[in-house]
Amino acid sequence: MARNAILSLTLALAAAAAGAQAPSAPAPERAAQLVRMVRQDCGSCHGMRLTGGLGPALTRQALAAKPPEYLAAVIIHGIPGTPMPPWSALLSGAEALWIAEQLASGFPEEMRSQTP
Ligand code: HEC
Repeated sequence: MARNAILSLTLALAAAAAGAQAPSAPAPERAAQLVRMVRQDCGSCHGMRLTGGLGPALTRQALAAKPPEYLAAVIIHGIPGTPMPPWSALLSGAEALWIAEQLASGFPEEMRSQTP
């Protein structure tokens, strides 16, 4: 019984890992949600093309020198005293890091949601 439970957990983890691009990658549906959120919510300040607006550009070029861990910390905690708000109510640390990694490597376009 216990062995079976461990086996199916291992299989579930392996299946989750197989679809992942990076160790911190969220499930595909959540990833699509996060992409939409960044394009729309973050885009309202950082520009619809993320090339800057009220907030600075979040393009690959603009962020080249900034470590993903720093960017993730900014996303989670915001920057007090500036309009950059904290996103900890909406994002886990792993999700913030995933967004940071996507920004640093050129953020993906929104995908049309695939209905099964
Ligand atoms: C209400 C406007 C606003 C929204 C919404 C917003 N930001 Fe910001 N963001 C800013 C401003 C303004 C700064 C620059 C703050 C400063 O240092 O003066 C900033 C800074 C940043 C930085 C640091 C950039 C750097 O070069 O150091 C990152 C990363 C960032 N934002 C990511 C995000 C992400 C991801 C989202 C969405 C989850 C988001 N922001 C939503 C206004 C916003």
